Amino acid sequence: MLRVSFKGLSSSIRNSLRSISVSSANKSDDLFVHRDTPEDNPNIPFEFSAENKKRVDAILSIYPEGHKRGAMIPLLDLAQRQQGWLPISAMHKVAEVLDLPNMRVYEVATFYTMFKRKPMGQYHVQVCTTTPCWLRGSDQIMNVCKQNLGIGPGETTKDRKFSITEVECLGACVNAPMVAINDDYYEDLTEKDMSEILQDLKNGNVPVAGPRSGRFASEPSHKLTSLYEEPKGPGFGVQSGL
Ligand code: FES
Repeated sequence: MLRVSFKGLSSSIRNSLRSISVSSANKSDDLFVHRDTPEDNPNIPFEFSAENKKRVDAILSIYPEGHKRGAMIPLLDLAQRQQGWLPISAMHKVAEVLDLPNMRVYEVATFYTMFKRKPMGQYHVQVCTTTPCWLRGSDQIMNVCKQNLGIGPGETTKDRKFSITEVECLGACVNAPMVAINDDYYEDLTEKDMSEILQDLKNGNVPVAGPRSGRFASEPSHKLTSLYEEPKGPGFGVQSGL
């Protein structure tokens, strides 16, 4: 945090400092302070399902003795996939599995925004609004989500089917604007695409993921502008033996 002492500054400097303006701080949708609620308190038992217990063993087997705590994020992710979100009892279970103090798990689970500390909808619509997506119309995409679902960022529909989150860059800027819904990316979106995707999900159909523009991936949308020829292979023009 920037702290400035105005004492001893000349009036002209003080006046120019007063003219500095800042935009309001963007706050996360998530509350990182735990408060016991009827649906999230340590007295509600959490246990991995029989199927997930096998996955827990498989994950733990990757990490050598003495470094099992490296499995914390995969285990938290597994717990979240089972429950749909991450209640405090699930964090305690992960701490128990890894033989760690609960605090070590709280530190990780509250740092990464991928872990959701409150009940989420069946479909988690993450709308990227970082600069490339914003320049390509993420405001309109967000508006379609809000109007179509009747909720805003950080909220869940009453039927627990949809949640909206506003997120920072999801690494698919070449296909902006885009949203992530659960594990799938929907890219090169128009407002019409977004409406259709939400309608499909409401009808119980999961639309095909990927670009909606007809592109296969992130290639140029019209024609190649570089890399026309077959690649020459490693070392070309550098090693005389090649
Ligand atoms: S800015 Fe949206 S994916 Fe990068």
